Amino acid sequence: MRRKLVSLFRIIVLVVIPCVSQTIFASDVFNGKEVFMRHCVACHGSSGEGSMPGLPNFKEGKTLFKNDSELMAIIRDGRGIMPSFNGLIKDDDIRDVAAYLRTFL
Ligand code: HEC
Repeated sequence: MRRKLVSLFRIIVLVVIPCVSQTIFASDVFNGKEVFMRHCVACHGSSGEGSMPGLPNFKEGKTLFKNDSELMAIIRDGRGIMPSFNGLIKDDDIRDVAAYLRTFL
């Protein structure tokens, strides 16, 4: 009985938890970069510093103090002259591009 419990516990730790956490937490920054290069680079620049005045500088970190859901809401809904990407970019891609923004810091 005890042995069975131990092996069940092993299965949970080694198989179930990694599978579940992958789907919940993993974001793919490489895909995020592709999304950024397609949809964001024109305004935000390849270095994240912004290609014109009035744009946030992602290297300063002020933006990146925001948590993931705040960043994703800005990308989804737009802000100021930044257009909304709702429906244009899949939710997974929005999550990935938000993760990519953090690489500028
Ligand atoms: C048409 C130009 C334009 C495009 C395209 C654009 N942005 Fe923006 N973005 C802006 C501007 C301008 C602001 C500042 C808005 C404000 O605060 O009034 C901004 C703000 C942001 C902010 C908030 C920064 C902060 O500190 O609050 C994030 C995050 C962001 N953009 C991410 C993205 C991502 C990711 C993409 C691509 C999916 C993107 N933007 C595409 C112009 C753009």
